[in-house]
Amino acid sequence: MPDKLNHDFILKDKGYSNYEDTTELARHRWYYYKEGFSPNIVENAIEQTGISKDDLIIDPFNGSGTTTLSSSIKGYKAIGIEVNPFTAFLSDAKLKNADISELSRWEDKLLKVAEKGMPSPLQGYSTFSKTKKLSHSETKKLDKWLFNIPVLKSFEGGWDLTNKISSHNIRKLTRLALISAAMKNCNATRDGKCLRYRDNWKENFFNKDTFLDALAFDLANIKLDIAEKPIEGKTKILQGDCRSILKSSDEIKSFKLCITSPPYLNTFDYTDIYRPELFLGKFINDSKSLYDLRMKTVRSHIQAKWNEPTLKDFGLLYEQTIKHINEHKEDLMHKSIPMMVQAYFEDMSNILKLLHNKAAKDAQIWFVVSNSAYAGMEVPVDLIIGDIAARAGWYLKEIGVLRYLKKRKTKHSPNVTLLRESVIILSKNKF
Ligand SMILES: C[S@@+](CC[C@H](N)C(=O)[O-])C[C@H]1O[C@@H](n2cnc3c(N)ncnc32)[C@H](O)[C@@H]1O
Repeated sequence: MPDKLNHDFILKDKGYSNYEDTTELARHRWYYYKEGFSPNIVENAIEQTGISKDDLIIDPFNGSGTTTLSSSIKGYKAIGIEVNPFTAFLSDAKLKNADISELSRWEDKLLKVAEKGMPSPLQGYSTFSKTKKLSHSETKKLDKWLFNIPVLKSFEGGWDLTNKISSHNIRKLTRLALISAAMKNCNATRDGKCLRYRDNWKENFFNKDTFLDALAFDLANIKLDIAEKPIEGKTKILQGDCRSILKSSDEIKSFKLCITSPPYLNTFDYTDIYRPELFLGKFINDSKSLYDLRMKTVRSHIQAKWNEPTLKDFGLLYEQTIKHINEHKEDLMHKSIPMMVQAYFEDMSNILKLLHNKAAKDAQIWFVVSNSAYAGMEVPVDLIIGDIAARAGWYLKEIGVLRYLKKRKTKHSPNVTLLRESVIILSKNKF
């Protein structure tokens, strides 16, 4: 197996496992999604597999929709599956076209109502604004809050208007611009696993005017990109847990190419980090629905009380890894880590089996992952998934190294300083 690791992979050290190169790209730039990969991964996979325009491309962990958007721009049909309703909405919105003059008319109205504003249901909810409502209608002043009230009010004024837009596409596009503008005016930004407050955020004072500027800017980009890069509506986004959708949906059959990146085995919880968007866009409205959503995500974090995994026949490298982790429990940051590691590989195993059932006979999977570190040891996630894929019936073509990423020094794994990100290339046919 280790000889399958290609250190001279053609895409190595080009920055393709991250999203930085999309900030200027038409349609991709409608929302900054830190955890996405580059469209170059998708373009390379399409080129190297030489699939035709009638073939189906899928991504079961579609995130912000880099696979579905890049495939659509190139004229391919794709299906993306995504469990998080905000990111599913985002990836769908990026595929929409609209009549520009109608969109401009709604833009004028939107800027007017956002200028006026209206009370937001998030005022006083959790950490969304300066004050938090307690029972018996007491209020408590917080020392940190995500949004200044004028921003929430402008957002809500705009959102209320979108309920009156009959064009499905224009409603989606204006809602996306509203959420994007709100997040540009959020007092915290995403930083790894958490939302970190901006430096001097209290002095930066985001307000109605900064919100309106961001909204006008985002809508201008949307209009420009739709005019310059209309796309065919062949692609579809399905929202839900890919394990159930792959089991039940007839739409995904005989796919030729799967280009995907599951959550990494790093305790990162996407439902937590995208909590502001989930509430702003009214995809969820209380902590119970947030928890229910969390339970549907793959078991790559410890924020939910998962079912105990039962599978463990994942090969020698997995056995060595779990043995080391179990023998060094005192070096783990949380007692649930051993269970999470096993559950993660169980989920990957089930998904690879489901994909095998749905694949055309000469299909390929491009699976982007990163290694992790637990109890002072580097967990070779890419090699273990290679073993698991073989057990699910896939042939391992190669594991292409994308880059070695500097790891933040932690007290739990101080000696692991670099983590490998790679693309596992699997084929249904023996080559
Ligand atoms: C690494 S991100 C994918 C990023 C994507 N490649 C892009 O460029 O935007 C992984 C995604 O998997 C999603 N996810 C987690 N569990 C899932 C599940 N059970 N079914 C479908 N999607 C899931 C997360 O919400 C997250 O958006």
